[in-house]
Amino acid sequence: MKWPNHGGQPEEMQQLFGIEKDTQMLDFSANLNPIGPPDWVKEALNNHYHTITQYPDPTYSHTTTSLADYEGLDKDQVLLTNGGSEAIFLVAKYFENGKSMIVHPTFLEYERACHHYHIETEDVFYKAEEKFQLPLTCMLEKLPNTDVIFLCRPNNPTGTVIKEEDLRRLLEEGMKTGTTVVVDEAFVDFLPTTIPSLTKWLSIYPNLVLLRSLTKMYTIPGLRVGYMMAHKDMIKVLREEQIPWSVNSLVDAIVPRLLDDTRFVEKTRTWLNEQSKYMFEELTNLGYILSPSKVNFYLLQDKMQVETDELFRYLLNHGIVTRHTHNFKGLNGTFIRVAVRSKEENEQLLYVLKKWRNEG
Ligand SMILES: Cc1ncc(COP(=O)(O)O)c(C=O)c1O
Repeated sequence: MKWPNHGGQPEEMQQLFGIEKDTQMLDFSANLNPIGPPDWVKEALNNHYHTITQYPDPTYSHTTTSLADYEGLDKDQVLLTNGGSEAIFLVAKYFENGKSMIVHPTFLEYERACHHYHIETEDVFYKAEEKFQLPLTCMLEKLPNTDVIFLCRPNNPTGTVIKEEDLRRLLEEGMKTGTTVVVDEAFVDFLPTTIPSLTKWLSIYPNLVLLRSLTKMYTIPGLRVGYMMAHKDMIKVLREEQIPWSVNSLVDAIVPRLLDDTRFVEKTRTWLNEQSKYMFEELTNLGYILSPSKVNFYLLQDKMQVETDELFRYLLNHGIVTRHTHNFKGLNGTFIRVAVRSKEENEQLLYVLKKWRNEG
């Protein structure tokens, strides 16, 4: 079976599993905010339609300044990118022909970017039985032979958050071994305010690089907006490497306003807190195993039915698409990734999972 590489492709799944084209499907496979984009975005895009007839300012000065102000950094520590994906490939370019470490299961593009730039990859693993904690001891041993580590915090697909003390240890040891630690914070805005982003750490650890994406929180995968925060020397080099005008001209109209829209983020966090608590309680009571996620998706496995593919197929036949994990190293299909959606959609998922449990 050729499983699709990404989530958010319900039509492809329907085709692959021979489900009638007209069947209404609920998409739990993508991990975008179901509340977004904010209402005002459509009008703002309309009002700035004329900007697509002009080249953007090549330095993206206006948006970069807003990002730097928002993060409390200098402009020369921030690089606007074409989604978080461009940031991943740019940082990989910096370590071309070097040696990397990747902690799996995680977002697939780190490995792809490393291969693209001929970077040797060393795989280490989070383990389900250890609640997907960072395998710190094993990582520290490999540090002297590692130029760059790719971490995802909160991690996709587990939704788990690496402990601050583990990260500090890696960064401190990394300074001695000349190892850079790249932390992809694409889902950081979904975290409760008790778990802050690592931006403040940039002034302490020159070997820290942070990657961000506006895609997930604001539900704008088609706009392609992300950024990188790092020591100014690295940003300077990567600014030179970036292809010209890699980001569209609409960002100036959208990004500064998105950063100001704290109400939207609060509304999202309130929904997520309520719905994720509810789903975790209900699913745990039904006997499902979940990753201890802190964000808008989680891994799920049936304690009693080992065959996750069967569960995946059952859900699909009941109009629910989840994300398979066959192409996540270290999972190999043993879990499915499920998004937290609206109350109604979550109820529908629960209904089907109860039915599966009762029929099993
Ligand atoms: C962890 C992580 N980082 C980065 C990205 C890339 O996001 P984008 O390029 O849309 O900003 C994704 C998308 O799925 C992701 O899951």
